[in-house]
Amino acid sequence: MMWLSMTLALVGPSQAALRFGCSTLSIQRLDPLVEPGRLPSSHVHQIVGGNAFNVSDFSNYWTAVLFFKHTNGTYKRVPIMQNSALPNGINGGMTIYYTQQDFFSNGNQKITAFKPISETGFRMTVGSPTTNNLNDAKGHVGIRFVCLTDKNTRFPELPDFPTKPCKGGIMTVQHFPSCWDDKNLDSPDHHSHMYNTAKEAFSPAGPCPASHPVRMPQVAYETLWDTTQFNNMWPKDGSNPFVLSYGVNKGYGTHADYVFGWKGDSLQKAMDSSCMFNACENGRPLKSQNVQAMNKCAVKNMVNEDLDSWLKVLPGQAM
Ligand SMILES: *[C@@H]1O[C@H](CO)[C@@H](O)[C@H](O)[C@H]1NC(C)=O
Ligand SMILES: *[C@@H]1O[C@H](CO)[C@@H](O)[C@H](O)[C@H]1NC(C)=O
Repeated sequence: MMWLSMTLALVGPSQAALRFGCSTLSIQRLDPLVEPGRLPSSHVHQIVGGNAFNVSDFSNYWTAVLFFKHTNGTYKRVPIMQNSALPNGINGGMTIYYTQQDFFSNGNQKITAFKPISETGFRMTVGSPTTNNLNDAKGHVGIRFVCLTDKNTRFPELPDFPTKPCKGGIMTVQHFPSCWDDKNLDSPDHHSHMYNTAKEAFSPAGPCPASHPVRMPQVAYETLWDTTQFNNMWPKDGSNPFVLSYGVNKGYGTHADYVFGWKGDSLQKAMDSSCMFNACENGRPLKSQNVQAMNKCAVKNMVNEDLDSWLKVLPGQAM
């Protein structure tokens, strides 16, 4: 992870937007949120964030990974590439955002940071493997895909995987809900303690409802999948060749998990400052880790299975 630590509390209007890269810590079958204590978990995740990630430790960002299914019936994991607008050399990973209002402006309302409580802390998921039709997916603005011409393509946002090969790869965008019920750090479905009022892309969110009155940071992940090596292997019948690591071939079945793990009140202080993106680094008010240190950070593989050949079966998924 690119660690961000607070060195200075700024006094000023409550405005801030944070964006940073997290290199890939690990790609393996671990899922502390949905399947705590289960090793290996039922499907493969990409994990970025603090390297305390373990079967039941928290403080991370993770998401299912993508496989390409060849017409010959075998699967190959799609490599992850680094985003643009981040320091060069990051090993795969995701781009993590904590914004207030939208991509271009930091708004001017109080943003309450997630709460740490005892060893664990606030957590949530966005998206659900049970989303099974395009209409529901269209209503689920938190989960979108972009067919990349190059790494800077951002529109249009699609509710499902692109239907044609994309010259520059595919980007997954996962926006978490940001209105909190002011009570629960988690809920049995990992969703109900939160409510989404955001619209598509990074546009300003609507007001939080009375049931979920507290506005929290807008957390979003971007993951760039390098699908280019598969562009000449697309099925001739035009069917979608991509499969999420839990065996679903609808993009909108994807989900992402978030566990809050910032030290002390550093996220609150960042949200109370007025910086935008890179201007928040170099001690104003956050410190960031350099790319070499970030890439060194890795989690021991606890599952040890082949994820990189052409595979007959998705890891953990019975035939
Ligand atoms: C992960 O957790 C297990 C069980 O709690 C523990 O035995 C193991 O040492 C931990 N591994 C790391 C790398 O921290
Ligand atoms: C399937 O196709 C890939 C890509 O051409 C190839 O590497 C792999 O060996 C094939 N597998 C089988 C079982 O034919």
